Amino acid sequence: MRTKHVVRASLIGAWIMGAAVIAWAPRARQAGAAVATPMPDTVRDSLLVSDSIYQGWKWWHVYCFRCHGEDAMHPILPTAPDLRWALSPTGANFPRDSFFNTAWNGRPAKGMPAWNVLLDSAAIKEVYLYVKARSDGWLKPGRPHRLSDLQQKNKSP
Ligand code: HEC
Repeated sequence: MRTKHVVRASLIGAWIMGAAVIAWAPRARQAGAAVATPMPDTVRDSLLVSDSIYQGWKWWHVYCFRCHGEDAMHPILPTAPDLRWALSPTGANFPRDSFFNTAWNGRPAKGMPAWNVLLDSAAIKEVYLYVKARSDGWLKPGRPHRLSDLQQKNKSP
């Protein structure tokens, strides 16, 4: 009986939250429309990354994608895990050091190569940052942008 009440109370709470969001949404949209030109810095570029993550993306698409999948999703080798899931708190919640050690030493018996022969530790840390950004979800699939790339693009040849 008690738990039923708690469930009902939290359902009502969720409903009120939902109603508040719905009530708020049109006003927020109107406020946005009042601004004549959209402010570029209010729109998050979900592909804009640090140089380290950009390097990680590059390493990934040289060495890792052929088994773990392009953009760190949809593994190609059936036994290779989706590393977004491996790093996610709702997945395997792999700590950074375990990621690093697994990439560094591999698990040769299980088809995961050791990367210490081709990559240095800085590169593996960059790969980790890239996969973490993909796992956290804010970095969308595709080629990330660096600030320096965007500045380059705006320059006339
Ligand atoms: C030839 C295929 C292949 C390539 C290329 C490859 N992996 Fe793997 N990887 C695997 C397999 C298979 C496993 C699962 C091993 C097991 O079952 O324990 C794995 C597991 C892992 C794990 C452990 C995940 C977990 O949840 O246990 C990490 C971290 C990892 N790989 C990182 C990388 C990184 C970083 C690269 C690129 C530098 C890479 N892998 C390239 C095949 C590959």
